[in-house]
Amino acid sequence: MKLKSTIDAIISKALHSANIQNPNLSVTKAAKKEFGDFQYNGAMGLAKKLQTNPREIATSITTHIDAEIIEKVEIAGAGFINIWLKNSWLSSELKKISQDECLGIEKAQTKENIIVDYSGPNMAKEMHVGHLRSTIIGDTLANLFEFLGHNVIRQNHIGDWGTQFGMLVAYLEELQSSGDFQENLKDLEEFYKLAKKRFDEDAAFADKAREYVVKIQSGDAHCLKLWKRFIDISLAHCEEVYQKLHIKLTRDDVKAESYYNDMLSQVVQKLDAMSMLSVSEGAKCVFLPFSDIPLIVQKSDGGYLYATTDLGALWYRNDTLKADKILYVVDARQNEHFKSVFWVAKEAKMVRDDVVLKHIAFGTMMNEQGKPFKTRDGGTLKLTDLIDEAIIRAKNTLKDKEDAQGIEHKAKTIGIGALKYADLSVNRESNYIFNWDRMLSFDGNTALYMQYAYARIQSIIRKYVGTFDGDIKIESESERALALALLDFEDVLYKSAHECMPNHITGYLYELATLFMRFYEQSPILKEGIDGETKISRLLLSKITADTIKQGLAILGIETLEQI
Ligand code: ARG
Repeated sequence: MKLKSTIDAIISKALHSANIQNPNLSVTKAAKKEFGDFQYNGAMGLAKKLQTNPREIATSITTHIDAEIIEKVEIAGAGFINIWLKNSWLSSELKKISQDECLGIEKAQTKENIIVDYSGPNMAKEMHVGHLRSTIIGDTLANLFEFLGHNVIRQNHIGDWGTQFGMLVAYLEELQSSGDFQENLKDLEEFYKLAKKRFDEDAAFADKAREYVVKIQSGDAHCLKLWKRFIDISLAHCEEVYQKLHIKLTRDDVKAESYYNDMLSQVVQKLDAMSMLSVSEGAKCVFLPFSDIPLIVQKSDGGYLYATTDLGALWYRNDTLKADKILYVVDARQNEHFKSVFWVAKEAKMVRDDVVLKHIAFGTMMNEQGKPFKTRDGGTLKLTDLIDEAIIRAKNTLKDKEDAQGIEHKAKTIGIGALKYADLSVNRESNYIFNWDRMLSFDGNTALYMQYAYARIQSIIRKYVGTFDGDIKIESESERALALALLDFEDVLYKSAHECMPNHITGYLYELATLFMRFYEQSPILKEGIDGETKISRLLLSKITADTIKQGLAILGIETLEQI
């Protein structure tokens, strides 16, 4: 149910009947309940343009508002049009939602091929918090677009190519005699440090490392085999994190940097053919209209760069994956990089003009002191450790009144939910402060608050014996507010998808759960003396609330619990 668009259409029709051209459609949800359910604030702007009195314009519009679903219309102040919807209409729409598995949410009108490029850890090192944010936000966006009926293609652009791998593979080869692969690569961060130390201290080793870079890239069987095993183990580390976090990325979604290796010389040729290439100090580059710094695509020694690979990937995504939209969920610090490669890809016609390319940037995760999040000794935090800590802390918030297995499952659901929700509930563009206590609180805009509201409703429903056959009656103000919020879900999802902002969903769920709690306080459900019809009506409202919370959380990749 697209609530706002329904009202937009009514106003638009009224403007048309009132013979008003060029209307500015600005229907908004009313800020206060005295101002109705919705407000149209366009009369003032129109009056200015037509040089007439805004209240007169407003009157003319209101006389032309003609819709079954509207209870009353009022003109207020300078010319605001306040609109109230009929309770009977709200009831019948909610009834429809209660009978629909998809909560009455319509699929997008045109199904698009949407690529979400997210996570993209580097195989040389341990996955870090920057990748955690990308992984969580990207997975949510992929879920959201999928839910709205699009064809989503998840792409994990892992960093598995480049000069570091010569050093790492050479070191791995040295260690091979003294221990197994798994053991050596247990801690990638440590492995990298030791390899780097060898590289810095031993010139012969450094030479070998350089030689191995060339060997890997030119397909030498021995080096390639070692490299493959290295990547396999490193990727398995990441998969452990995905699994713990219930992230939907699989091996099939991995299109690593190395995948585009064979395309890189063609990328450079294409740019040359399009007369876009310049040579500067031996390097091949493209000059950009919006920057003094050109985009380098090939170094003077012939090596290619991160940007060249991204151009190859864009080309592939356009030609082979037939993308309509490509979203890059990557740290805000790569803004210039994406601006440049998007411009070059379009200018060189590697990507159709109408393909939407968007960098979905996000800020840095900070500690309480406002510094980038690290371990106590300043090292890179292992994500598996962070996730395990979330689960332990969640366990501590639970009363251990049940069996160990039950506790384990609850702690995981709550801990992982808290971690994800804390990330998703802030505007992704801003930095955010990581705080265990806040994210694991029962109160406030947290996953636990939502999971708790859901479990509470489920416990009411469990206690009820009887049918759900009946109507929804909207009588009190708190019921009305809840009803309006429930009908708003679809608009929120579309807005969140349009802006690629998951925090619209969390903000909505928080408001919904709060409105439910208020409704529940004022409208007892199973209490003795409540008549059958009222009981069913209130149960239905509660059930739609629970279903909406569950669906909303599922899009965020967060599970619910039947009992907390
Ligand atoms: N590996 C990159 C990094 O860690 C992220 C990859 C993002 N995706 C892309 N197509 N460039 O910074």
